[in-house]
Amino acid sequence: MLIMHIVGARPNFMKAAPVMDALKPYPHVQQMLVHTGQHYDANMSAVFFKELGLPEPDINLEVGSASHAVQTAGIMQRFEQIVLETRPDWVLVYGDVNSTIATALVSTKLGIPVAHVEAGLRSFDRRMPEEINRLITDQIAAKLFTPSADGDKNLLHEGVPAQKIHLVGNVMIDTLIRLLPAAETRWPDLQSSYALQQYGLITLHRPSNVDDLDMLRKILTALNNIGERLPLIFPVHPRTHHKIAEHDLGHLTTHIQFIEPLGYLDFLAMQKHAAVIITDSGGIQEESTYLGVPCLTVRENTERPITIEIGTNQLVGQDMALLRLSVEKILAGSHKSGQIPPLWDGQAGKRIAKILAA
Ligand code: UD1
Repeated sequence: MLIMHIVGARPNFMKAAPVMDALKPYPHVQQMLVHTGQHYDANMSAVFFKELGLPEPDINLEVGSASHAVQTAGIMQRFEQIVLETRPDWVLVYGDVNSTIATALVSTKLGIPVAHVEAGLRSFDRRMPEEINRLITDQIAAKLFTPSADGDKNLLHEGVPAQKIHLVGNVMIDTLIRLLPAAETRWPDLQSSYALQQYGLITLHRPSNVDDLDMLRKILTALNNIGERLPLIFPVHPRTHHKIAEHDLGHLTTHIQFIEPLGYLDFLAMQKHAAVIITDSGGIQEESTYLGVPCLTVRENTERPITIEIGTNQLVGQDMALLRLSVEKILAGSHKSGQIPPLWDGQAGKRIAKILAA
């Protein structure tokens, strides 16, 4: 049985690694790894392969950056040829990025069943490109692996037959649990390089926050203000970096320490030791919940409600006064404490492998 895994953008790598590992013991399973090349900078891609122990991709489609239509179509065109040549038995897609939907569409139309890892998450906000990718991928996938029970509920509500849905837990947390000890060994060096005591960790890259000039200005102003009181460290995503430069907003960031995007291990260590994380990422809402670190999410909604219901996450939306107030509360020690959601136990990849191999 040939199983083909698709990765393309940074958040895919840590999800594919545990599934590939868990499939290794099955002698009848052969695996192929296809990288679409959606992310291509060394610090957005290569460093993750090295640190996560992922094999070199068998194929790189080298699609690069472009508009959604051009990027999605570019992946589809190049991937169709690969599927026709290799005829895998299953194509495994991860998360909600353009690489996920592009390859799911091609495979399904060629009659190759798709399994979606991290199925069923919904923000119910169709202005988000990722929500469109999630909805369509889940409608056409043959197997849907969900990280939490809300995913099952959403899929059933959308008419997905129950026998296609498998609640397996969170593969991203498999990787976190495996690599946390290695990440901890990075901490002393990080702490001295960046002179870290109490600090806030920032990541922002969602189009709704950084492509909108007014919003970007508002967020940077608020962060800069927080930065006068709490050192802020911001490993900046290329999209955000380009936007700050394009609009010449450097003068709003004098109290924010920008650094290059970090590798997996350094970023995990930085999360673990942060006093607060301010983000608009999906995965970081989950990782901070697992680590028990307070997380303020600069979005109106989340496709990961469990991180709010039982985790350490709080939505602050576009309300920058609320962001500042929430940071104050956290520093005063009055943030809610969270719990780890069920099945976020390091075994999700093994559950997926067992189902697929059977
Ligand atoms: C993508 C995903 C998003 C995910 C994020 C994680 C989609 C629709 N979005 O967003 O869900 O949270 O990845 O990082 O798939 N760029 C570089 N170097 C790179 C990659 C990108 O400079 O290695 C720049 C490009 O100039 C591009 C911009 O970043 O214009 C955005 O890249 P893109 O892949 O389109 O989307 P992301 O914002 O990274």
